[in-house]
Amino acid sequence: MIKVENLHRHFGGFRAVDGSSLEIREGSITGLVGPNGAGKTTLFNVIAGVLPPTSGRVTMAGIDITGMPPHALFHKGLLRTFQIAHEFGSMSVRENLMMVPGGQTGEVLWNTWFGRKRIADEERVLQAKADEVLEFLTIDHLRDEKAGNLSGGQKKLLELGRTMMVDARIVFLDEVGAGVNRTLLNTIGDAIIRLNRERGYTFCMIEHDMEFIGRLCDPVIVMAEGKVLAQGTIEEIKANEQVIEAYLGTGLKNKGAA
Ligand SMILES: Nc1ncnc2c1ncn2[C@@H]1O[C@H](COP(=O)(O)OP(=O)(O)OP(=O)(O)O)[C@@H](O)[C@H]1O
Ligand SMILES: [Mg+2]
Repeated sequence: MIKVENLHRHFGGFRAVDGSSLEIREGSITGLVGPNGAGKTTLFNVIAGVLPPTSGRVTMAGIDITGMPPHALFHKGLLRTFQIAHEFGSMSVRENLMMVPGGQTGEVLWNTWFGRKRIADEERVLQAKADEVLEFLTIDHLRDEKAGNLSGGQKKLLELGRTMMVDARIVFLDEVGAGVNRTLLNTIGDAIIRLNRERGYTFCMIEHDMEFIGRLCDPVIVMAEGKVLAQGTIEEIKANEQVIEAYLGTGLKNKGAA
């Protein structure tokens, strides 16, 4: 579904993504792992149109999407969540979800004067959709809570919920499990599996928790120093000498720097 070919993203002389090539198979839950600073988030940002690449190509179902802006990708069903949740703190959880779909009639002044009924209808549809999403994620009890009052884990769930307000095809998750307690992590994991199986979502997820990755992902892609180091099942990855070395290597480097 997604093909990344020889992608580079440099910051000055620093090669954050340094010639990465990979494929994300339709219907898969693909894991992306690697030591801190490996270039994972940067790679996501380039695929999702947040950062232009220095060079290289990204295609979606054979169509070149390199450098396409996020809103254009959104309309193609390519969505991402952020390593740090982006909620509107003073709005309710339900209102946060209702903010997501693009092209709302209410945003156009002309329509606010002449189309009040249409806006009311749209609002009802959005509300119903938001309630359905909250139920799916088993957080309907938080519907009227201010998003700013949610725990870190609940904010991650809300991020996932936002991807369900539209017809997503592929969702990029950047550390949805980070700092989340076990119970919520299971809820997030179950939601991802159900979205994959029941709604046909393809996922690519960055995660540091190998147990979580192991439960959800096949295949797992390992990045280190801007490059794809290995790909395989979680067992293959864990047994891969180069992978072990990459993780140890950064550990040693960090010690050396300290
Ligand atoms: N805007 C930027 N300007 C300069 N350097 C950057 C920028 N964004 C990222 N980098 C650098 O690129 C490298 C890769 O960063 P990135 O955030 O992609 O890593 P990551 O694999 O997501 O790490 P983590 O697991 O810690 O989230 C890091 O050394 C980072 O400091
Ligand atoms: Mg990152």
